[in-house]
Amino acid sequence: MKKRFGILTAGGDCPGLNATIRAIVKTAHEKYDMEAIGFQHGYKGILDREYRLLTPASVSGILTVGGTILGTSREKVMKNEEGDERDKPAIIREVYDELDLDCLIVLGGNGTNKKAYQLQQAVGINVIGLPKTIDNDIVGTEQCFGFSSAVTIATEAIDRIHTTAHSHNRIMVIELMGHHAGWLALYAGVAGGGDVILLPELPYDIECVAQAINKRAEQGKEFSIVVVAEGALSKKEAAMKKNQRKKFLAESPSAGYRVAKAIEKATGLESRITVLGYVQRGGIPNAWDRILATKMGSYAADMLHAEDYGRMVALIDGRVSSVDLAVVADKVRYVDEGDRILQAARSIGTCFGDE
Ligand code: F6P
Repeated sequence: MKKRFGILTAGGDCPGLNATIRAIVKTAHEKYDMEAIGFQHGYKGILDREYRLLTPASVSGILTVGGTILGTSREKVMKNEEGDERDKPAIIREVYDELDLDCLIVLGGNGTNKKAYQLQQAVGINVIGLPKTIDNDIVGTEQCFGFSSAVTIATEAIDRIHTTAHSHNRIMVIELMGHHAGWLALYAGVAGGGDVILLPELPYDIECVAQAINKRAEQGKEFSIVVVAEGALSKKEAAMKKNQRKKFLAESPSAGYRVAKAIEKATGLESRITVLGYVQRGGIPNAWDRILATKMGSYAADMLHAEDYGRMVALIDGRVSSVDLAVVADKVRYVDEGDRILQAARSIGTCFGDE
């Protein structure tokens, strides 16, 4: 009998989602004669029974298209909003059976892959995960699709800000995405020649940052580029009790603004701030992400054919492979001190505000 599977994209979108959908559907059809059903808006589409058949023709021409043709949402599956009495895992099992699915393929970040694992445990559906996120923070894979494109976009923005920083002799603070993990700020910061890079993993001391900026000014370089991940915290902020920090961040949510203000106060130098925001998630995937998406998507179809369920496609030692979802679920891959790029940046004198 023909195999039939569902596909959904959930969580924040990123470049490369469509390229991956295309690779899964085309490989599944051309190589294995399998049938694909696309759910709209992530897990919400299963609960609302919103789906359509995906064919090679319907995924043709989407390799370079940004966003996701399936739409996305951050629908919770193991929790309900107040007043919502639905047994969501049971509904998902029901729809899975109604459609006679052999597997559900999910394209998503930490939350999406965790939910797939929880559903597999709770109601016994077969699942395969694929790692997408501009944050690049999924455990078990060296890279997620979407990350490389976001690094390219952010680096180009830093390059542009660099020239205006130079013209005006200003301190330019650029806030990039990354609440928990600072991979994007680290990579784009290094690629864009950031003088200071502040990451969520390394609480900073503003005096340290000010020293690095003043040192540059003494050397005749009166402008500086400061790249800040949105989750970066000062040592003082990091030391706050959870509730106190929550309140503080609700009143002063932008890490970039906090840093720019503190730099101006500590150095007396004119500072400006750019919050790059959703530009980092939009638009066409770069060449690397198109290739990674194609390799990962076709590998997922191979896994489906082999009934290699309960795993997430992963890049391991530079090769596409897979990892048990149990290893991935409920974890975050953080920047650690041993990271080669972090070490190289420290070696060339980049300030991380922590020493
Ligand atoms: O996980 C990707 C990401 O872009 C994070 O870097 C960012 O913190 C978050 O999503 C923003 O989420 P939302 O789309 O819900 O605003």
